[in-house]
Parts: sequence; C-alpha cells; structure tokens
Amino acid sequence: MDLKDIDLLDADRFVRMEHHEMFRVLREEAPLFWHDHPDGGGFWNVVRHRDVRNVNRDNELYSSEVGGISIANPRIDRDDGVFVDQRGLNMLYTDPPKHTRYRRLVSKGFTPRMIGLLEQFLAHRTTLIVDNIIETGSADFVEDLAAELPLQAIAEIMGVPQEDRHLLFKWSNDLIGIDDPEYEGDPGVAAMELYAYAHELAMARGINPQDDIITKLINAEIDGDRLTDLEVDVFMLLLAVAGNETTRNATAHGMHALLSHPEQLHLLQSDVDKYLDSAVDEIIRWASPVLHFRRTTTAPTELLGTEIDVGSRVVIWYISANRDSDIFVDPFTFDITRTPNDHIAFGGGGAHYCLGANLARAELRLIFQEIALRMPDMKLEGEPERLRSNFIGGIKHLPVSWTPGKRIDPPPYERDVSLP
Ligand code: HEM
Repeated sequence: MDLKDIDLLDADRFVRMEHHEMFRVLREEAPLFWHDHPDGGGFWNVVRHRDVRNVNRDNELYSSEVGGISIANPRIDRDDGVFVDQRGLNMLYTDPPKHTRYRRLVSKGFTPRMIGLLEQFLAHRTTLIVDNIIETGSADFVEDLAAELPLQAIAEIMGVPQEDRHLLFKWSNDLIGIDDPEYEGDPGVAAMELYAYAHELAMARGINPQDDIITKLINAEIDGDRLTDLEVDVFMLLLAVAGNETTRNATAHGMHALLSHPEQLHLLQSDVDKYLDSAVDEIIRWASPVLHFRRTTTAPTELLGTEIDVGSRVVIWYISANRDSDIFVDPFTFDITRTPNDHIAFGGGGAHYCLGANLARAELRLIFQEIALRMPDMKLEGEPERLRSNFIGGIKHLPVSWTPGKRIDPPPYERDVSLP
C-alpha cells in the first residue's frame, strides 16, 4: 500500500480492518498527513504515539471548543451538527477554563470511593449476567455479555431503572452507529429522547433525593457553583454514549483476541489474579475503541515541521498511536503480560483524559474474571461483525459457545453504607 491508497473517510476500510495497514504506512512515511474532505475543508492526521500525546496535551493551541471533535459522519459532527449545538455545555466540546469548572464538578460523582462502591454492585451484577446465559451454552457475546455490564453501570450512575437500560442501548447505538446500516435511528431524535429522559430523572432526584450518584452530581457544589439543569442533562447524554460503547467494544475485542490467541487465554486462566490487570490494559490497547478525536487550531503553528493555519482540523488517531513500534515491542502481538503498557486509549493525558478510565478497567476486570472462571472453554462460532465507523472501533455481534454450566443465584445485593 502507498500513500495514494489511504482513505480514512471510507468506513468500509475499517470494517475490513485495513486501517492498521494504512496507519503503519502513515507512521513510517507521513506522520503528519493531509487528507481531503468532501466538504472542502480537509484535515491533518497525527498518527505517532508521541505526537498524539503532544497534541492531546496542548488544549490552548489544539482546541475542542472551536470546532467538532471527530471526522465521523458530518450529520453528527460537522461544525454545526447535532452534537455541536451543545457547545459550551458538553464538556468534551469545551476548553479550560470552562472545561476545568465542569470537570471539577462532575468529578465529585467519580471519586475512587464512589467507583469502589459501584464496583461492589457491579461484581454482583456480573454474576447475574453470566447466570442469565450460562445454562444455554451459546450466545451473541456482544449483546448478551459485553453490552450488559457497561449498560448496568451507566444505568446505576444515572439512576435509570434497570428495566429501562435497553433504552440507553438503543439511544447510544443510534448516536454512534450513524454510518452503519444496522442502526437506522436518527441521532438527532435519539439525542432529544435521551435528554428528555435524563431531564425527567434529574427532576425527580431534585424533588426526591436518593442515595445515588446522580443525586450527588445534581447537588455537587464548589464555592457556591453548581451544574445547571441543562448541564446535568447534557452530561447524562455524554455518559450514556462515552461509558457504553467504549467498554462494550473493549470487552468484545478482548474476548475475540483471547479466543483467537488461545495460548493467551490459557495463560490468563492459569493464574487470573496474577495476569488480570495487565491483560485488561493489553485488551484496551489492542481494542483502542475510540479510534480518533479531532481538535481545531486556535493560532497558526508549526506541527512536525509543517506550517499549519489557524482553524485547521487536526485528527489524533489513538488506534494508530497504540500500534507504534517506537513505543511498543511487537505492537501487533497480543500479549497479556505486556509491561510497561503505555497505551493512550483513554486519551494522551490532556485535560479530557477519560473520566471513566478507572470504572472501565474495573468493569473489564470483573467480566473477564467471571468468564475465565465460569466459562473456561468458550469458543468462537463465527467471525465478528464489525461496526461501520471510523470513529468507534466496534464489534456488533460475536457468536460464541461453551459447555453449559450452573447458575450461582447470589442473594440480592444490598449496599451497607451510604455514598460519601
Ligand atoms: C475502554 C473504555 C473507554 C475508553 C477507551 C474511553 C476513551 C476515552 C477517550 C479517548 C476520551 C477522550 C480523551 C481526550 O480527548 O483526551 C474519553 C473521554 C471521556 N470518557 Fe471515556 N473511555 C472509556 C470508558 C468510559 C466510561 C466507562 C465512562 C463513564 C462512565 C467514560 C466517560 C468519559 C467522559 C465523561 C469523557 C470526557 C472527559 C472530558 O471531556 O473531560 N469513558 N474517554
């Protein structure tokens, strides 16, 4: 492949997994690469680990606030698209100081103690998720296993009754799956429905506070400053998308990788306690479920020796950075013992570094531990069906089978302390 064959807008190339080869060529031959866009704008692409990090950390020059944050389908993320209407309200679309204020307030719902308590609840849910299907011996790994824990976690944070969690599943699919024919929902409609739903929940909590994270978020206060009602609604929308697809896809990619590299699965099963943490980070690196983010320059600048204009779109490709051979030994080898593992799947350490990173890691630990111990002989029954997107690296369906096992039927979960 050479440079003239690169097409980062054709989502089918990502379905066919050709992007790894495109990015390998770019890392070697054109680490800053100009790509035309049908709207006439075009965009710069940054593909090496250290360069992605540098752009990611410089919020002053590379802004999330003055333009869209992806090059995905322009219906959801052109500069005047559905998501951008919330500019200034959705924290992903803000820069410091607006972002700093927002982040400090929402972080009150994501303290290590909150996540620790959530993890206890999720450990119980993980047992139930596997209980639900263990007797059947076969499943769609994505819908029946991978999707469930992230959905239940977000539902718990948002105060969504667990029986409504499938609404979240549909809305987030419609928002993210816009380039994929399987998800035909209108992202504008999904966003509006989700707002209305989140708004009702938040209003109910305002009138009738509960011992839950959403109540903490609504009441979070720093020096008399609080989130407005609209900011709470928008944050709920962000959580429903950011916390769902990402972790679901990391889980699905991780299972596919383990089943396609049985020696790695056996290694994990040989000593789950020993290998679980490094396996989870290798799964996240391997999956890199968020393929890219986009920034817009706030001043003329020089990037990798090239002059670029103010207002330029700059796309940082996490998926490429996480296969950079300058940083990772044998980056195309799936190695659950990889240490160090300096992947940047959660962002390169800038202001927007993933708020849910610890929660995502906790969810992955829970689900892979449960599967390794209770469904030890799981095997693939077909090829993964991939999401058609150049923004989210997703697997929609993954048929698997295993020897049917027994339910555990744990007693109902009761938290014995209040949230801090
Ligand atoms: C494997 C799973 C996940 C991956 C790979 C992932 C990845 C990312 C990335 C790449 C960013 C943007 C970083 C940047 O622009 O520098 C981000 C931001 C964010 N993530 Fe995650 N994420 C995951 C799970 C979660 C979960 C479980 C939640 C919530 C429960 C979450 C909530 C957020 C939020 C709220 C932001 C915006 C932070 C800000 O703007 O300050 N993510 N995530």
